[in-house]
Amino acid sequence: MEPLRIVHISDTHFGEELKPEKLKKAIRQINALEPELVILSGDIVTWGIHREFRNAYEALGEIEAELFAVPGNHDARNDGLKYFRLYFGEVKKSVRLDGMTVVGVNSTLPDSDDGYIGEEQRRWVERRFRESCINMLVLHHHVIPVPHTGRNRNVLIDAGEIVESLMLHCHGGVVLAGHRHVPYSTKLLRTHIIHAGTLSSYKVLMPDNNYNIIEFDGESLKLKLRFIDLGEVEIGRFAIKHGLPEAISIYHSLTSTKRVLFISADVTRAERFASLFNRLSPENMHASVATPQNRRIGELLESADYAVALEEFDRANEVWNPEMSDADAEKHVRMLVERLLKN
Ligand SMILES: [Fe+2]
Ligand SMILES: [Fe+2]
Repeated sequence: MEPLRIVHISDTHFGEELKPEKLKKAIRQINALEPELVILSGDIVTWGIHREFRNAYEALGEIEAELFAVPGNHDARNDGLKYFRLYFGEVKKSVRLDGMTVVGVNSTLPDSDDGYIGEEQRRWVERRFRESCINMLVLHHHVIPVPHTGRNRNVLIDAGEIVESLMLHCHGGVVLAGHRHVPYSTKLLRTHIIHAGTLSSYKVLMPDNNYNIIEFDGESLKLKLRFIDLGEVEIGRFAIKHGLPEAISIYHSLTSTKRVLFISADVTRAERFASLFNRLSPENMHASVATPQNRRIGELLESADYAVALEEFDRANEVWNPEMSDADAEKHVRMLVERLLKN
């Protein structure tokens, strides 16, 4: 398979920080590479003002490949996201490439340099990730600290949540980010986290302004760091492994809540087991009762993680004998708790 080539640029910083000669040279180089996609991981401008965005739109329009941009904290300054949308499309977006889905999110917060993705966007990301086997998440802020930046704090507030989402739903994935103006790459279990430096800001913390060239052949990813005037450095080749790391799925299961439903036409019977369960179960589980005649039974079953019927009922996970002794009831409930803990 012909490798899929992606150019990853970041932190162009149009406005007072821009070095226009670096930008022009970089665009000529990028066009010569003929990438499938150019990804821009935020801080397109410096102050979030209209003139900067228009200049950025005009200059970056010289890039011949499709441009996939997400906003950075500087783009969001002064209500700048409205200009981002005017010139660079939605703040969250996804595109399918050959063998890979690229998902971009808005990690900015108003009036803050910190990053946040939030539950709603995270759920949206997870839905996109389920559509593809290999995924690339693009955001501005970093999900793990980047060394050599002088500020080592991790500024994505919900980094833990997004990392778990990546592991659970991203069966071999890549994260692209910017923000710190330092190119860096590291591996977190099966996910490769790649940061780009700044393409054209004078706030450059490296020998020269730079960008990443990523080539993906379906099984492995080749990463090169390109300095605009100092040439190319090959960073490495990384295998993309499919499959969910077991440790992550165990932790996820242990922290999830579990809802158990005891079903019987005789509510008192069902309540006996539910109250026993609620007395014995760990903090993250709860049992409630329902009758098969309940008008909401379908909905209740849908939201339950496990259903136990106390008489024949084919939509339950299992049927228990309601006449069992107290000791047997306790044994059954303990075994159920144990099973639910691991699943
Ligand atoms: Fe920046
Ligand atoms: Fe930034």
